[in-house]
This record gives sequence, C-alpha cells and structure tokens, in this order.
Amino acid sequence: MFPLRQIVGNVTRRVVPSIRAMSSKGPLVDTAVDNEGIATVTMQRLPVNSLNLELLQAMDKALDEVVEKKCKGMILTSASPTVFSAGLDIMEMYKPDMKRVETFWTTLQEVWIKLFGSNFITAAAINGHAPAGGCLLAMSCEYRVMMSGKYTIGLNETALGIVAPNWFMQTMTNTISQREAELALTTARMFSVEEALKVGLIDESATDKADAVAKCKKFIKKFDRIPALARSLTKQKARQAPLTWMSDNRKQDTQEFLMFVGHPKVQKSLEMYIQALKQKAGK
Ligand SMILES: CC(C)(COP(=O)(O)OP(=O)(O)OC[C@H]1O[C@@H](n2cnc3c(N)ncnc32)[C@H](O)[C@@H]1OP(=O)(O)O)[C@@H](O)C(=O)NCCC(=O)NCCS
Repeated sequence: MFPLRQIVGNVTRRVVPSIRAMSSKGPLVDTAVDNEGIATVTMQRLPVNSLNLELLQAMDKALDEVVEKKCKGMILTSASPTVFSAGLDIMEMYKPDMKRVETFWTTLQEVWIKLFGSNFITAAAINGHAPAGGCLLAMSCEYRVMMSGKYTIGLNETALGIVAPNWFMQTMTNTISQREAELALTTARMFSVEEALKVGLIDESATDKADAVAKCKKFIKKFDRIPALARSLTKQKARQAPLTWMSDNRKQDTQEFLMFVGHPKVQKSLEMYIQALKQKAGK
C-alpha cells in the first residue's frame, strides 16, 4: 500500500516554497501555502463543517494538493470561530440514497488513509468543538493544539446508537491508551480542553486560533533538524497496523456501514438525534 519507492520519492523531493497563497478550487476547503512550505488547510463548510460528501471530496483534493505542492507539513483547521468540525453530516446517513452514502463512506475512508498515512507532517489547530468525525480528523494528525474555552472533543458515536468503526477506534488508541480509549468510546465521552490535555488527546492548548496555528507551525518546524526519510518511514511503521487493517478490510468495512445505516433502529436513533439537535438550536 505504501511502497518504499513512493515514500522515498515523496520525502526526497525538495519543498519548493511559495510566497503566494494558493487556494483550492472548491470553496468548501481553502489551502494556503506559506513561504516555508507549510500548508494550512481550512474547512469552511459553515456553520459547523459537518462532513458531507462534497466537503470530504474537497478535503481529499486538498490532501492531494499538499503532496503535489511538495509541502513539508500541513495544518488542518476551520473557518468557524467555534467549531472545528461537527463530524459526519448526519443528513448523509438519515434516510440515505444508498449509492450516495456508499460514495460518502468510501470518500471518508480515502481522506483518512491520506491524512493518517501521509508522509508530510500533520498538525491540527482545533479552534472549537470537535465531536466524532471532527475528533477523528484531529487524531489522524500527528499533533493537536486546541483553543481554550468551553469546547469539547471526543468520539460520541455510541450516544447516537452508532458503533464507531474499527479504524476510528484504532485512531484513538494510536493517540491515547487502550484503557482510556475503551472508556471514552463506550461512554461516548466528550472531553473538555483541560481533560483532553490531561489524557493526551490533545498535545497543547492555545489562547486563540492564531496561537494554535503558531504552535502547530512550531511543531512542524521541529522536524527541520530530523532527516525527512527517517521521520517519514518511522511514522509509516508506527501507523502501519491501522493502515494495513484498512487495506485488508476496506470493502467489508463499507458493507458493514451500509448494513448498519440501513437498519431501522439506527434510523430511529438518528431521527431522535436530529430532533434533539434542532430543539437545542430552538428550531
Ligand atoms: C458541533 C456542535 C457542538 C456545535 O454547536 P452549535 O455551534 O451550538 O451549533 P448547532 O448545534 O446550533 O448546529 C448548527 C446547525 O448545524 C446542524 N448540525 C450540527 N451538527 C451536525 C451534524 N453532525 N450533521 C448535520 N447537521 C449538523 C444543526 O442541526 C444546526 O442545523 P440548523 O441550523 O438547521 O438547526 C453541535 O452542533 C453538535 O454537537 N453537533 C452534533 C455533533 C455530533 O454528534 N456528531 C456526530 C455525527 S455522527
């Protein structure tokens, strides 16, 4: 899945810095590369960056762009002042068109493979709430800085009657201990910034978004002193098990999701959750 030639090819190519800010074509994601070869990928599907098919496709493209521009690192963040990402767009799963929901899931898998398995350095500037898929995206990065405030982060799928897929769980156990992850997953725990810091779900807190982005840049620049090939191969080895699992089980994972999302009980849970969200918003 990640042949040595490909890895060597990617890390030995020199980063060509660009002083020009570059934007991806899609308005759902903005990609800007600074003069040090660090890309900032900003999700901008407001209000909450819920991950629908189109946002995931735009992210998939943005990740390809980071490779094409030979960026040394990438910071993932959000254009919302209070939400990093609300996770999977529930409306994609509620009374779904089966063909679209299949593409939705396989695109999510693709984004995860590219983000979790990237050769370039990744950091998340979490400028607000990061439930479920938002937490997954942040955990797929190598470093997380979260803005202080009354924001929460975690995998809350069980609260919606959804079982988090194996690779969501593996991404969490790659970040925090197996014991903490099991407790967090079964109880659908949403961590405050302080709690996330304590358990290692995030690496640093920040005063605001600019501070979070600056801390992510500092993390990426640490690697200026580490040989790129050694860094990249070490990351690939450390992350090999979940990536191999995905490579071996991708079709089955999709089938399970489709069966699951088509189940009447799951549809009922989603319906109730949507109602609760609307009530909370006073609609
Ligand atoms: C992220 C969150 C904390 C932000 O809170 P907030 O800033 O007060 O924003 P709101 O809850 O008012 O949400 C704004 C809109 O986005 C919608 N929305 C929020 N999360 C969504 C999601 N995951 N999918 C689809 N729509 C979502 C809300 O229903 C609301 O829509 P409306 O304006 O049509 O009523 C909150 O929206 C939330 O908890 N969302 C659910 C997260 C979740 O459980 N995701 C799991 C998906 S599997």
